[in-house]
Amino acid sequence: MIGRLNHVAIAVPDLEAAARQYRDLLGATVSEPVDLPDHGVTTIFVETGNSKIELLHPLGEDSPIARFLERNPAGGVHHLCFEVEDIIAARDRLAGEGARILGDGQPKTGAHGKPILFLHPKDFSGVLIEIEEA
Ligand code: CO
Repeated sequence: MIGRLNHVAIAVPDLEAAARQYRDLLGATVSEPVDLPDHGVTTIFVETGNSKIELLHPLGEDSPIARFLERNPAGGVHHLCFEVEDIIAARDRLAGEGARILGDGQPKTGAHGKPILFLHPKDFSGVLIEIEEA
């Protein structure tokens, strides 16, 4: 069911410093920062050729990334995103197998303007999983 790894998301305490590391130290192509107020994050995407890295920084008062950074002050891997062909079919199949869908179960619009959902980390070896209709 799952397609390619779309991105690995890393929460970072300093977005500019993290972007500089990927751009200047690793020589990657790095996007401009994009604010996503609906998700409480500012994102920068790093192109890696076969996938992407999503750098995440808190935006606004009630950001889920702020809580993550309180527990992980140096930053850390926040989630993995896999592509699916049909997000509703994927959701229904996963829920049918007992996986917990976060939020109200309705897809939101993600960083690429496509529908996304998040799956509970306790059902996936402690890792938060995002699925994105691609
Ligand atoms: Co993501």
